[in-house]
Amino acid sequence: MTTTAWQPDATGPNLVVHADNAEFLPTLPDGSFTLIYVDPPFNTGRVQSRRQTTMVHNAEGAGDRVGFGGRSYDTIKGALHSYDDAFTDYWQFLEPRLVEAWRLLADDGTLYLHLDYREVHYAKVMLDAIFGRECFLNEIIWAYDYGARAKSRWPAKHDNILVYVKNPKTYHFNSAEVDREPYMAPGLVTPEKRELGKLPTDVWWHTIVSPTGKEKTGYPTQKPEGLLRRAVAASSREGDWVLDFFAGSGTLGAVASKLGRRFVCVDANPQAIEVMTARLGHVATVVGPDLSCAADDAGTAQDGVMRAADPEHCAEEVIRPGQPTLFEP
Ligand SMILES: C[S@@+](CC[C@H](N)C(=O)[O-])C[C@H]1O[C@@H](n2cnc3c(N)ncnc32)[C@H](O)[C@@H]1O
Repeated sequence: MTTTAWQPDATGPNLVVHADNAEFLPTLPDGSFTLIYVDPPFNTGRVQSRRQTTMVHNAEGAGDRVGFGGRSYDTIKGALHSYDDAFTDYWQFLEPRLVEAWRLLADDGTLYLHLDYREVHYAKVMLDAIFGRECFLNEIIWAYDYGARAKSRWPAKHDNILVYVKNPKTYHFNSAEVDREPYMAPGLVTPEKRELGKLPTDVWWHTIVSPTGKEKTGYPTQKPEGLLRRAVAASSREGDWVLDFFAGSGTLGAVASKLGRRFVCVDANPQAIEVMTARLGHVATVVGPDLSCAADDAGTAQDGVMRAADPEHCAEEVIRPGQPTLFEP
């Protein structure tokens, strides 16, 4: 099934891959990752135009078309109708990538699919079909409190993260590794419990990335590290490989590196690669879809092809932490 030399081995470099995930994912070996987190873009569809055409019988036989029984018709060109097929298009875009996610998960692996409230129900049905209903573990609600509040309905202030496991009997989940929360009524629990805090539930209150904070990369859809830290801590172990194939600013890579996991972050957008190079360049090799160094992105390779088989050379030459980026933090 696989066509690249990449293997999830303990000595290989972390990777930032500049590629369309549809092209790159099929090159990875089955069962390589303990955790896959993805936060796909909404609405990759396009507005289509179609002209409605009607045929009207011409009694004098002078129409521009001849139909059944030799009857004559005039063709009337109707209004140009535009319709938004974004929805169908979106699910056609996402489904094959989620099937790949299933293939790439190890037997003890877990998928975290980050969506918003408009998409999540369709995705739940799709993932039930791909993984099996018995593999559904959780729907995590990420609740935040930011921005204006609608007056005509309940202001929507949450995202949804669907969690599916490859195998409900063997999946890895270690709640002892997860950061704990303060009790809401600390006076009602023992000092020991108060000190320890309580385990989070499936509702995670967390601020968005602060527009003025240190974590901000400037990438528009950047998610907070605190969210991903919980997922990575609970659903993978030190040394495991984790994957984000809609990586954006590389939040999964940043968290994985801090928690001692190995990572592959994939994005098709050159600006995302630029942000990830600045954010993760000191811990990852930046490559193209064939695992050659992404010389075009960094502009340092002489012949444009340096193989990831020599990752140290690749990293040394291609990655320049601190180089100016499009998105200044
Ligand atoms: C919502 S953003 C992810 C943000 C990320 N979670 C973070 O914390 O920065 C979605 C990303 O998917 C990328 N993307 C969209 N289509 C893609 C494709 N076919 N292959 C790879 N990346 C793609 C976009 O460039 C964008 O960076």
